[in-house]
Amino acid sequence: MKFLSKSVLILGAVAMIACGDKKEEKEDKITIGDGNSPQTESTTEKSSASSDSADENVVEVSIEGNDQMRYNKDEIKVKAGQTVRLTLKHVGEMEKSVMGHNWVLLKQGTVINEFGQKAVQAKDNDYIPEGTDAVITHTKMIGGGEEVTIEFEAPAAGEYDFICSFPGHYSVMNGKFIVEE
Ligand code: CU
Repeated sequence: MKFLSKSVLILGAVAMIACGDKKEEKEDKITIGDGNSPQTESTTEKSSASSDSADENVVEVSIEGNDQMRYNKDEIKVKAGQTVRLTLKHVGEMEKSVMGHNWVLLKQGTVINEFGQKAVQAKDNDYIPEGTDAVITHTKMIGGGEEVTIEFEAPAAGEYDFICSFPGHYSVMNGKFIVEE
């Protein structure tokens, strides 16, 4: 009996010490938080105020490519006059040399097959035919785990094709880029 009550006492003391420690920690955290919060608030205010007008005209678009030679989107819609900030993310693991992906926005009237065949021969230029006038904009070629962001003005309202110009990919890695009025 004596032994039991002793250990209960010890346990109780340990618990109290533990509680005391926790309280101190909490108080510390509150102090740190209080010291920081005015700074955080002012930063937030600044960034939202300065980017208010710009944000309305910038549209963020993201698209993924994978090791199965697919994009995760076959349609992207933006509005005329918008600045498009497009991020291509390669969510696979394969190397650029075997499963490279890019995002190429083609001018209207471009025949995808013809462009794709020219692109195959442009290995030294990231599979973008040199001197081509068929490309509105494009990202660089990336491999597994990489991502790339480009920014461009949306072209005139209408429907455009986008493709990946890595050899053999354009027939499955393509979609419509739609610019609405
Ligand atoms: Cu590809």
